[in-house]
Amino acid sequence: MLQGKKIVLGITGSIAAYKSCLIIRELVKRGAEVQVVITPAGKEFITPITLSALTQKPVVSEFFSQRDGTWNSHVKLGLWADAMLIAPCTASTLGKMAHGVADNMLITTYLSMKAPVFVAPAMDLDMYAHPTTQQNMQMLKGFGNHIIEPQSGFLASGLEGKGRMEEPEKIVAYLERYFAGASATADAADLTGQKILITAGPTYEKIDPVRFIGNYSSGKMGYALAEECARRGAKVTLVSGPVSIKASHPRIQVVSVESCVEMFEAATAVFPSCQAAILCAAVADFRPAEVAAQKIKRVGQTMDIHLVPNPDIAAHLGQMKQPGQVLVGFALETNDEQQNAHHKLEKKNLDFIVLNSLRNAGTCFQSDDNQISIISRTGQHDYERKPKQAVAHDIIDELSRRIH
Ligand code: CTP
Repeated sequence: MLQGKKIVLGITGSIAAYKSCLIIRELVKRGAEVQVVITPAGKEFITPITLSALTQKPVVSEFFSQRDGTWNSHVKLGLWADAMLIAPCTASTLGKMAHGVADNMLITTYLSMKAPVFVAPAMDLDMYAHPTTQQNMQMLKGFGNHIIEPQSGFLASGLEGKGRMEEPEKIVAYLERYFAGASATADAADLTGQKILITAGPTYEKIDPVRFIGNYSSGKMGYALAEECARRGAKVTLVSGPVSIKASHPRIQVVSVESCVEMFEAATAVFPSCQAAILCAAVADFRPAEVAAQKIKRVGQTMDIHLVPNPDIAAHLGQMKQPGQVLVGFALETNDEQQNAHHKLEKKNLDFIVLNSLRNAGTCFQSDDNQISIISRTGQHDYERKPKQAVAHDIIDELSRRIH
C-alpha cells in the first residue's frame, strides 16, 4: 500500500527523534520515497547525514540551502507529497501548526501541504496534559489532521504513558491502513452512472484519395483513459481517429472517425449527455481547402496545398459546457509550457489541462510512458514518468474529484 508513495517526514526537537530512523527504514522497506524536513531543534537530536543516508535524499532544513540564493520550495514539497508525517512532533511544533507560526521550513511545508497530514506527538506528561497542548491538538484534528497516539495511555494514574511517541511500526501501520482505505475507495466504482466522452488518436486530413495530412499520435493515452473510466464504472464514448489499437472494455463505445470535422460532429453530438469530456486527440489545426477527386500527379517543380482552419473541438465544447460538466484538455508543448497551458485553459474554458512536454525524452507520441503535469486554475501538480495506464489513473483521480 505504501509502494511508490511520497512521504514528507517532518522531524522536530524531541528525544524521540532517533526513532525517526526506524520510521524511515519501515517506510523505505515498503517502497515509499521519503523526504525529510527537519527543524533546527530536531538537528540537535539527530544529524542530517544519518537521515539523508537512510532516505537517499538531501535533508531539507533551512529556507536557503546554500549562500547563493537557491532556496528550498515548501510549495513544491506540498504538491509532491502523498502524505506528510510529523514524527516526533513537539508541543512547540503542535502550537505553531495550530496557529500558523511559519518560522521554519517544516511549518511552511505543513501550511503548503495538499496531502493528508499525520502527527505523532512526543513530549513529557506535563506538557502533554497542559490545556494549551490539548486545545492545539483539538484544533489540528478539526483541520482534518490525523493525530497518532499510543492507545494504552490511561493506566492507574489516569494519564500515565501519555505524550510518549507511538512506536515506529505502529505509525507506519497507521499510514498503511490509511492508504489501503484510500485506494479501496479509488478502486471502487467511483464513476458508476457517469457518461464520459473521450477523443483519441490523430486526425487524417485528406489531400486526395491516397494521401492525407496526419500526425504520429498512437491513441494509447486516450485508450488508456477510456479503459480506466470504464473500469471505474463509467460509460465511455471514445471518438477515435485512425489507430492500430482496440478498446477492450464492454462499457466503451468506439466511434471511429478520420478527419477533424468528423470528430467535431461526433463529439458535439455526444457531449450534452455527458458529465465530462477528455480531449486527448491530436487534432490537425488545418485541412486542405479542397480534396482532389483523383490522385494528384507529379507536375512542375513545386506544389502548394492551400489549408483552411479546422474547428477547435475543445473550444467549442468549452462554449457548450453547462454547470456541472467537466472539460479536460491536453497540451503538448515544446517551449513556455506553463504559460501556453494556462492560456489554453482560459481560451478553451477547460477545468484542467494535462501538460505533456516534448522535453521529456522517451514520452508522448508512440511511447508507452508519459510524464505529465496537471494544471488548473488552483495550481499545478507535477507527476513522475509512468506507464500510460498509471498516468490514466492519476488523471481520472483528478477528474473524479471534480465530478463529485
Ligand atoms: N483540440 C481540439 N480541436 C482542435 C485542436 C485541439 O479539440 N482542432 C484539443 C486537443 O485535443 C487538446 C487541446 O485542444 O486537448 C490542445 O491542443 P493543441 O493542439 O495543443 O492546441 P491548439 O489550440 O491547437 O494550440 P497550438 O497552436 O499550440 O497547437
